Amino acid sequence: MLIKSAPSWQMPEREATPEHVFLNRRHFLAALTVGTTALIGGRAFAAKEVDPTADLYPAQRNKSYALDRPLTEESDAAAYNNFYEFGSHKRIAMEARALKLRPWTVSFEGLVEKERQVDIDTLIRAMPLEERLYRMRCVEAWSMAVPWSGFAMSELVKYAKPLSSAKYVVMQTFLDPKMASGQKQVWYPWPYTEGLTMAEATNELAFMVTGIYGKPLPKQFGAPLRLAVPWKYGFKSVKSIVRFKFTDTRPVTFWEKIQSAEYGFWANVNPEVDHPRWSQASERVLGTNKRVPTLPYNGYGEQVASLYSGMKGEKLFM
Ligand code: MTE
Repeated sequence: MLIKSAPSWQMPEREATPEHVFLNRRHFLAALTVGTTALIGGRAFAAKEVDPTADLYPAQRNKSYALDRPLTEESDAAAYNNFYEFGSHKRIAMEARALKLRPWTVSFEGLVEKERQVDIDTLIRAMPLEERLYRMRCVEAWSMAVPWSGFAMSELVKYAKPLSSAKYVVMQTFLDPKMASGQKQVWYPWPYTEGLTMAEATNELAFMVTGIYGKPLPKQFGAPLRLAVPWKYGFKSVKSIVRFKFTDTRPVTFWEKIQSAEYGFWANVNPEVDHPRWSQASERVLGTNKRVPTLPYNGYGEQVASLYSGMKGEKLFM
């Protein structure tokens, strides 16, 4: 059994420091544009930090995915992130500059026709990129609304060619404690691991993200490839993925291993099921700091509620 101190994001939202208190926006933006080259020298891509897929953005917006609220300002979303591989605070963009994005290989393993590895640029160019406006609701009771670019996860599943015996897809982040100092904290069960059922992974809403705000994904959002499953709490949306493993066994995920009483496998958003230590009835919208009511399945019930019908006895909402 792992014994560890509670991660900072378990604190009640009322105790969180409002970002305007600690964030000097101008200083932050300046730091984003400088400094990456010194940390990641050597290769041509690293020296210039030019994304080899930059020409694919902005991707065409898919108008089927509209919002009920304004988009979060880019500067607000980019300055308030969870990326424990680089530390347990929100202003993680600085530390995340150490993330080395190329070469980057993604593997498809387990119950697939043939296990294989693919270079990230080859993968992205093989996929039909589009932009979708999605809400995101963190289990800590803050939320944002952003324009993700990427491709339907169902396309990735098609590409991976899983066997019919596959019931789950497990996703993992890189493991490199030399690069990501947070991974030196051995009480966390690295690498970050998440999973979906095959029905969830092929639901139209499950989205593989490669960009945001019409550009390739900045590092702190989980470049070069992350998940967005907007009907689930944000911790399901695993960042900087290197491995997709198809399996017939339900995985025990990162936060579930740490505290299964508080963070389960399903983690669907539900305002009526409180976190053991705080209410999930409302959320603080990043940027405006206004509180708005939280919606069942984060407002995506029409698309996903049927996935869970008849699942009696499962802890679907935590
Ligand atoms: N993925 C990895 N690899 N490491 C993380 O720490 N944090 C999760 C999720 N994915 C996390 C991760 C949590 S708790 C949240 S709320 C979202 O990423 C935050 O995404 P954002 O920083 O893009 O808002």
